[in-house]
Amino acid sequence: MQSECRVARTSVLLASFSLLLLATGVSSAEQSGLSNYSFPDEFMFGVASAAFQIEGGWNAGGKGEGMWDTYLHKHPQFTVDHSNGDIAADSYHKYKQDVIMVKSLGVQYYRLSISWPRILPHGTANYISKDGVRYYRALFDELIKANITPVVTLFHWDMPTVFMDLGGWTNPKVVDYFVDYARVAFELFGDVVKIWTTMNELHIHCYQGYGLDVFVPAMNLRGIAEYLCSHNMLLGHARAYHLYDKEFRPHQKGKIGVTLDAFFAEPKDSNKQEDVEAAERYLQMRLGLYAHPIYSESGNYPDLVRERIANISRQQGFSRSRLPEFTPEEVEMVKGTSDFFGLNHYTTYQMSPSEMEEDWQVPSMDHDVGVKMAPDPSWPIPGCSWLAVYPPGFRKLLNWITDNYGTKIPIVVTENGVCDGGELNDYTRVSYFNNYLNQMLLAMNEDGCNVQGYFAWTLMDDFEWSDGYTVKFGLFHVDFKSPKRTRTPKLSAINFHEIAVTRRVNFDFIKIPSYKYNAFYRID
Ligand code: NOJ
Repeated sequence: MQSECRVARTSVLLASFSLLLLATGVSSAEQSGLSNYSFPDEFMFGVASAAFQIEGGWNAGGKGEGMWDTYLHKHPQFTVDHSNGDIAADSYHKYKQDVIMVKSLGVQYYRLSISWPRILPHGTANYISKDGVRYYRALFDELIKANITPVVTLFHWDMPTVFMDLGGWTNPKVVDYFVDYARVAFELFGDVVKIWTTMNELHIHCYQGYGLDVFVPAMNLRGIAEYLCSHNMLLGHARAYHLYDKEFRPHQKGKIGVTLDAFFAEPKDSNKQEDVEAAERYLQMRLGLYAHPIYSESGNYPDLVRERIANISRQQGFSRSRLPEFTPEEVEMVKGTSDFFGLNHYTTYQMSPSEMEEDWQVPSMDHDVGVKMAPDPSWPIPGCSWLAVYPPGFRKLLNWITDNYGTKIPIVVTENGVCDGGELNDYTRVSYFNNYLNQMLLAMNEDGCNVQGYFAWTLMDDFEWSDGYTVKFGLFHVDFKSPKRTRTPKLSAINFHEIAVTRRVNFDFIKIPSYKYNAFYRID
């Protein structure tokens, strides 16, 4: 009860916090603290989450097992804190409060994902779970009542276990089952869901889970499985796009795209040609591998990527490239299959060429890419070892995408955020959002990048994959020690509300105390 009251009071709390800050002089409308540009009225502001990371209810209402459920039950030591997603933030039961929280942020969009095994407990479309359907229908209804538009991802990594056992995305037949699932989702929810993304972060999913063993399914088949996975995911995405486009769009009138991920890559030394080439190679092999087949005019994998992997494969004695080839029909089928460029971005690395590093194997994607990557030592690393804060990298990445794929397809930033230890006074996150959003405004207004939406990652603290609950990305704190999973807004929630509502970044709205060395004021 207490937790319910707490969340129900969130909007009031956010409003009164703003007043309090004004009254105590913490906020100021000084011009110097305001971003030079503001977001247009139609700009989509939202917040994002993913089913496995927040829902819990792992077997509630007859839900089937997803691969993260099964794997973590068998290998509890896989996560840093030996945790799993059985309860997570318990959004399966607390979704109404989640909607109140989204609303309290002053945003109009909520990106969430459907759990495939919750809808199809056997993975296959011959049995649809009534309870699963009821859950999402209730959640969508609640969002729509609150005037929040759902943006729904079909696949945010929680594949039904049965398909993991069949090789996951390395098995081309799994693509057929994914398309069946997509059809069920469009049929069930297409009347209220008007923005879909088929899949989340193909690169991270395939690289960490198939090439390496950092994520489930922990295949660790380097240099082969991550390419098979990427290839089949691209085909699955494209087929789901065409299914929607032909059979559902005409009457449902929605949009459908995909979410790709990229760190930005800078040369370690911009005066060294080989470092400049290493940075470009990294971007082409990490983002271009997925973006070029979909967004470029010619389609297919970038030449640089195809040639490089084919050459290295040949030198290694393989009889064909480890990167599968698209047939000419497939090139055409994948090309143009996204109404927007969904982008997840968190950090930047500096690149220099390398033939071999200690933790690489041969063959592997790392070895194929052939770059040594490290953040600049001056960039703060507030919570996760992989995430250094460098806001200008975001602007540069938006420019790289624009230079490579043009401005016709709008970019929608489907995730951006930072991790920390979970404090309520999360100055680091306040500073991160202020600066990354300011860089995005510069990209939009000074560089002509066509960015039309931005989703903060993430609504609340959640299950952060192999890091379990040890790092936090939430705008809302979740008390994982309490069975109530009490949610409490952090300073960043108040700050994000201010940005979404005023459509501008005010660096003075929340003063960052100088002793917070991990946070910084403003970079232009
Ligand atoms: C991107 C993933 O989509 C999301 O699931 C994850 O929590 C964030 N990165 C932070 O690591």
